[in-house]
Amino acid sequence: MSITKKVYNNKVEACAVVAQEIKSLIQANDAQNKKTVLGLATGSSPIELYKELVRLHKNEGLSFKNVVSFNLDEYYPMAKESEQSYHYFMHHHLFNHVDILPENVNIPSGTVAEGEVAKFCADYEAKIDSLGGIDIQILGIGRTGHIGFNEPGSSFESLTRMVELNKVTIQDAAGDFGGEDKVPTKAVTMGVASVFKAKKVVLFAWGAKKATIVKESLVNPISDQVPATYLQKHQDVTYVLDTEAASEL
Ligand code: GLP
Repeated sequence: MSITKKVYNNKVEACAVVAQEIKSLIQANDAQNKKTVLGLATGSSPIELYKELVRLHKNEGLSFKNVVSFNLDEYYPMAKESEQSYHYFMHHHLFNHVDILPENVNIPSGTVAEGEVAKFCADYEAKIDSLGGIDIQILGIGRTGHIGFNEPGSSFESLTRMVELNKVTIQDAAGDFGGEDKVPTKAVTMGVASVFKAKKVVLFAWGAKKATIVKESLVNPISDQVPATYLQKHQDVTYVLDTEAASEL
């Protein structure tokens, strides 16, 4: 399977195109009375997309009433109202500004009791399946080649589960938390196999610091050491890049 690569001058241009695709999909599904299932990511990479979706909602009447969303991951433990939570992030950047119904928003829990995590994860997976799977999955890529919080060592078969964060990922998150020692060491993440069930995957990467991992994920042999290499096996993946992130291709 070959991954489609689209390179843009900058992320604003790139996200305008992806937002239009999402708009068309939502409107086509609306016309058939079908729900649209979006797989959403956090981190800096999708922020521009969310901005554009909010603009399409406010200025062009795009409605999210028939959208169901599933987020990839959440730190654990993590209170919803904490500014570092992905719950907060998603509401701040997208959900508070569009008409998505609160009951249609799904985000892995950072508060469920440790003994209940396995059941929470199985239910999360079952809910995605019951809706017929994700239509479009948005991804970023971590410096370790992680997607969601599927760190090196994650298997191709992995489903939604609790994971330990990698040292590099903790270092990268230190700025948000005011120090490495304040970053949670665990997370709940959709698995590689969960992502694989999506009909279409769009991975964003911006800036020179992503250039090496973008290249490795595309050309290295598929390996659990760079989980994004698993995407080489998916039937519909598009890498949406700016010129800097594409500079080593
Ligand atoms: C975190 C998230 C990932 C995200 C990655 C990259 O680890 N769990 O889903 O892709 O960061 O973040 P950024 O987009 O800020 O580079």
